[in-house]
Amino acid sequence: MANAAAARLPNGLEIVQGPLAYNADGLATQHNADFLRDPRFAAAYARGIDTIRSRRGNLEVGWRVQVCCWAAEHGLHLDGDFVECGVFTGIYSRAIVEYVDFNQEADRRFWLLDTFQGIAEEMLTEPERRLGVDRMNRKYAGDCYEEVKATFEPFPNVQIIKGAVPFTLEQVRAEKVAYLSIDMNAAAPEVAAMEFFWDKLVPGAVVVLDDYGFRAHIVQKIALDRFAASRGVGILPLPTGQGLIIKP
Ligand SMILES: C[S@@+](CC[C@H](N)C(=O)[O-])C[C@H]1O[C@@H](n2cnc3c(N)ncnc32)[C@H](O)[C@@H]1O
Repeated sequence: MANAAAARLPNGLEIVQGPLAYNADGLATQHNADFLRDPRFAAAYARGIDTIRSRRGNLEVGWRVQVCCWAAEHGLHLDGDFVECGVFTGIYSRAIVEYVDFNQEADRRFWLLDTFQGIAEEMLTEPERRLGVDRMNRKYAGDCYEEVKATFEPFPNVQIIKGAVPFTLEQVRAEKVAYLSIDMNAAAPEVAAMEFFWDKLVPGAVVVLDDYGFRAHIVQKIALDRFAASRGVGILPLPTGQGLIIKP
């Protein structure tokens, strides 16, 4: 490959160096990342990132957003609403409504659930506290509810539910779910959300587990693996750190 620097480990395996198509967010790869330059994706990603620019201007999560946009677009082929548990400013959900032109989906709602005040710390387990999950999540602590309401004001079929999962789950008036995103950085509410939505997920629906492979979130991975095994499915670990489930 042109300009590729070759470096080898003593055992002969090649180290990935360059040219790198993507090198951000814990992921460095030479593999094709042309989607970043796709005008439809680029516009959607920019809308998502705009929601957080004032807080963290240099954030780069393009590959993770691509996974969410792909999974949500797949959901358009299915019957059911979209749900995201763990929204913060709405990077993923704002990108998705742009990417799939959600205002054209008159019969479909997108339910966004968050405390909008950071992680519900009382739900963290002792192992999660020891891993510092409570400290890491202080960055989500400021109240962003009004901001998120303003972000989604142009999208009347987006429903925002403020409060801690699992206590708010019953407010989601969806019999069928075609896309589910789980990103609450804590095992207990994530498993509760999976249990609540599992029977509502229609066959073929994709579930994106945002924190699945991130080292600090190993407690979530263990809990979600146990949940998946109890339902007879596996979780696909993605190099982005996300995990994917396809509802059988
Ligand atoms: C990593 S952020 C979500 C980022 C978001 N997916 C995005 O697109 O930018 C995690 C969010 O989970 C929320 N959260 C944590 N525990 C929660 C719970 N029990 N119920 C509702 N929201 C929770 C936090 O308030 C925080 O906004």
